[in-house]
Amino acid sequence: MSEPNVFPSPHPLVAHKLTRLRDKNTDSRTFRELVREISALMTYEATLDLNTRHKNVETPLAGYEGSEMEEEIGLIPVLRAGLGMVEGVWELLPSAKVWHIGLYRDESTLKPVQYYSKLPIQPTVTICFILDPMLATGGSAVATVDLLKQWGVNKIKYVGIIGAPEGIALMQEKHPDVPIHLGVIDDHLNDVGFIVPGLGDAGDRQFGT
Ligand code: PRP
Repeated sequence: MSEPNVFPSPHPLVAHKLTRLRDKNTDSRTFRELVREISALMTYEATLDLNTRHKNVETPLAGYEGSEMEEEIGLIPVLRAGLGMVEGVWELLPSAKVWHIGLYRDESTLKPVQYYSKLPIQPTVTICFILDPMLATGGSAVATVDLLKQWGVNKIKYVGIIGAPEGIALMQEKHPDVPIHLGVIDDHLNDVGFIVPGLGDAGDRQFGT
């Protein structure tokens, strides 16, 4: 699939780690490590076009006209499964602020149900990275973007690990301005809304539930 604003990772390390992540014999501890490592690699890819401003420093030998990041970055992990991505992203963006959003999918309707949000009245960041390993029907991603846009942030990127074509299509219909960075795009959703081949339930596999 080659859609505008959809960026599956071209990186061989992501492909390698994703294969281990999918393996049903991978234990929770290793699964969490892989989620963290893949999230760091995805962060490298998702930050390639961020704005910088000039910053001058003195090296021990001379002045240097360098640069620093211009954006105030907010990480929006979608509970529960997005939680495990934060540490990996923080390795590259240690001063990013984190605002949690609690959503679960109703098992019969597959619609997202919000149960937690503590965003302050005014946005404190200029760009938000939504962190959620699984983009399945896309309902959770669309609801999270809706919430962030209502909050007043309009620069938003989605950073996930596995996406289904159905979820990508819904995001592109509802929020075509939001770039989607994924480790990989999988084949399809099954009749209970799981990504196939996927990796099972990312929340359960991280938290051992
Ligand atoms: C999973 C996943 C996403 C959502 C994706 O969460 O982490 O948040 O489903 O599905 P969608 O694209 O169809 O909305 P889940 O509801 O299993 O909650 P959990 O992370 O708490 O286990």
